[in-house]
Amino acid sequence: MLSYSFYLYASCGGVPKPLCYTEPMNKYINAQIRSFLEEEDMIAALANISACINENYDRLNWAGFYLVKNGELVLGPFQGKTACSHIPFDKGVCGKCYRDKASQRIDDVEAFPGHIACDSASRSELCVPVIVNGECIAEIDLDSPFKNRFTEDEQKEMEEAAKDIADAFLHHGWTLQ
Ligand code: SME
Repeated sequence: MLSYSFYLYASCGGVPKPLCYTEPMNKYINAQIRSFLEEEDMIAALANISACINENYDRLNWAGFYLVKNGELVLGPFQGKTACSHIPFDKGVCGKCYRDKASQRIDDVEAFPGHIACDSASRSELCVPVIVNGECIAEIDLDSPFKNRFTEDEQKEMEEAAKDIADAFLHHGWTLQ
């Protein structure tokens, strides 16, 4: 695997990152996310991944995680405004993602029955389950203040990230309690 630091160095022609902002980073987002998953502490890793997504995807008003704990979804590391701390499995886009164990790419959240508006500015949402041993253990959740913000390619990128997070969860022996 090409490491993120090598990518930063090489893509900047040998100039350290702070001096080089010319390369679009988006296409390397999964490589960056994998590099953050080398971190052994789960919260530290997920915190940097939420920041990484927020930096690389434009037009977001929220990017972060919900973790499955004690029979509900509990707020995890995120970037953005304050958000709902607890979401029941039968509520919202996040609840549907959990129940279906399937990504929810919602072009217009106002047309989604039961959408939970943590931020009234939100207009579209992408929620992707992290599946470990057949169980949804967490979700990546992204919100945008623009309708139709999320593309099929971005859904695939976040699904690849979710798979990498699931692999790291097992590799590091992370737990959710
Ligand atoms: N909109 C989500 C709630 C979480 S916030 O977007 C951060 C939902 O409907 O489940």
